[in-house]
Amino acid sequence: MCKPDHVVWCDGSKEEYDRMANSLVKGGTFVRLNDELRPNSFYCRSDPADVARVEEFTFICSEKEEDAGPTNNWADPKVMKEKLRGFYDGCMQGRTMFVIPYSMGPIGSPIAKIGVELTDSAYVVVNMHIMARVGTKVLEVLGDSEDFVRGIHSVGAPLKESKQPDVPWPCNADNKYITHYPETREIWSYGSGYGGNALLGKKCHALRIASVQARDEGWMAEHMLILKITSPEGEVKHIAAAFPSACGKTNLAMMEPTLPGWKVETVGDDIAWMKFGKDGRLHAINPETGFFGVAPGTSMASNPNALRTLHANSIFTNCAITPDGDIWWEEMDGDEPEELYDWLRRRWTPGCGRKASHPNARFTTPASQCPVIAAEWEHPGGVPIDAFMFGGRRATTIPLVTEAFNWEHGTFLGSVMSSEMTAAAAGTVGTLRRDPMAMLPFCGYHMGDYFAHWIKIGKTGDAAKLPRIFYVNWFRKNEEGKWLWPGFGENGRVLKWIFERCNDTADAVETPFGLAPEKGALDLSGLNLPEEDVDMLLQADKDGLREEISDMRRHYAKFGDKMPSELVAELDALAARLKK
Ligand code: OXD
Ligand code: MN
Repeated sequence: MCKPDHVVWCDGSKEEYDRMANSLVKGGTFVRLNDELRPNSFYCRSDPADVARVEEFTFICSEKEEDAGPTNNWADPKVMKEKLRGFYDGCMQGRTMFVIPYSMGPIGSPIAKIGVELTDSAYVVVNMHIMARVGTKVLEVLGDSEDFVRGIHSVGAPLKESKQPDVPWPCNADNKYITHYPETREIWSYGSGYGGNALLGKKCHALRIASVQARDEGWMAEHMLILKITSPEGEVKHIAAAFPSACGKTNLAMMEPTLPGWKVETVGDDIAWMKFGKDGRLHAINPETGFFGVAPGTSMASNPNALRTLHANSIFTNCAITPDGDIWWEEMDGDEPEELYDWLRRRWTPGCGRKASHPNARFTTPASQCPVIAAEWEHPGGVPIDAFMFGGRRATTIPLVTEAFNWEHGTFLGSVMSSEMTAAAAGTVGTLRRDPMAMLPFCGYHMGDYFAHWIKIGKTGDAAKLPRIFYVNWFRKNEEGKWLWPGFGENGRVLKWIFERCNDTADAVETPFGLAPEKGALDLSGLNLPEEDVDMLLQADKDGLREEISDMRRHYAKFGDKMPSELVAELDALAARLKK
């Protein structure tokens, strides 16, 4: 169908990575960075028409429309495949088709899953080398099993004339389709070479298809980071946390707590797959092997461990490049360079009035290079999860931290989660959207059924062994628009309260929204926050919440009779508590 000139089976070796990276340099897609400043690393600029996930062209093509639900675009699988076959016909002419077998999760882990991505993008191959376990070793585990996700990806830019020169970033500016077939576990992606649209192991497989597999098989595939936290006494807990795209998951997963003696280590920064273990607890693996993080804003202040991770062997897309061959982005440490070339290849000088990097510029970097990677991050059995955190970017209303009364109330808090939009997806930055469990763009089936799955997991698990659920908001502002909470390493104070709540050693008070830290229970020592700021920060704004109830009801109404009665009861209970 695709009519490539060549077909290459990827073996996953270092030689293969080097060969492909060199060919990308030769073809003008990559610039090799200064080896002394950033060893074995590459810089890349995409086409300006291909810079983010494209949610309006992302489809769940389930057999029945109602199975995609109101939050996904749906298309009939037969109709969509027919249409795409038209686009795919000859789409790889003049190009090579790469076959990438990959494992999401440690190879052979009982929680891991295998996929095969066919792609005509060498950029995808090198990124997949960093982001997943790829190559021959995966095929050996797969053997002749049919149990793998089938993915096809094309940039949609055939080289029809012989000797037609290629462009640095081939894509199809007019036709992009990111399509998923949950019943047959297939992904057909066309027209975009950008991360989440093209690296099919990540959002398409590990979230959209895996969420369906998880529903069918009784486990969870969530848009969550996984962190390990150790107290000064040496006690360890694991927390999984869901935040919408570009809300600081990578920063939180690698944070350096300011509180003396506390340590945070990273298991994953974006996706968690969780299954009940023999001990009755939920165990999580990170299905990925790399971080595909948002670059602008990553600094020694916001995330020193990310900067240390990407010191070498990394790929940078859509940031700026310095004259001496290193990368730069907004808010990076040190002085602003005197001169740069921006992500659109233009000369850039400080004060010229433009951003040098695209707000969704990304780094692709190996997790194994992270200085705070947890020793057990590749443990095939995963790590036992003690707590879940939900959070979003909210300037008003939502307090710094709240604990849910129980699993169902926690599921409710996740289901009404909301955030001001960021640049990770095409759309208007800053508008508020409800993003349940941060899964709005990533749930491969009806969101009402997804809520029901959460309720079912709660009923399957032993209440005493299920993770406790918390809701956080680092982004609250006062009336003058000033941040009320310093964030970053200080977030360790909130983690400490969560840790202690899991041990029943920290006090909480009941509020209409949930359990809040009792005065003095949240360790604010040495922060010198004004008392009125602390009061505002820790309180749910009742008037604000009252005003939101009708929006929550509208949000729930979208899911019709798929909406679990347990969650409707939680919403009614919140409304009643707010009336008091
Ligand atoms: C991501 C996203 O790239 O959530 O992780 O958009
Ligand atoms: Mn993400």
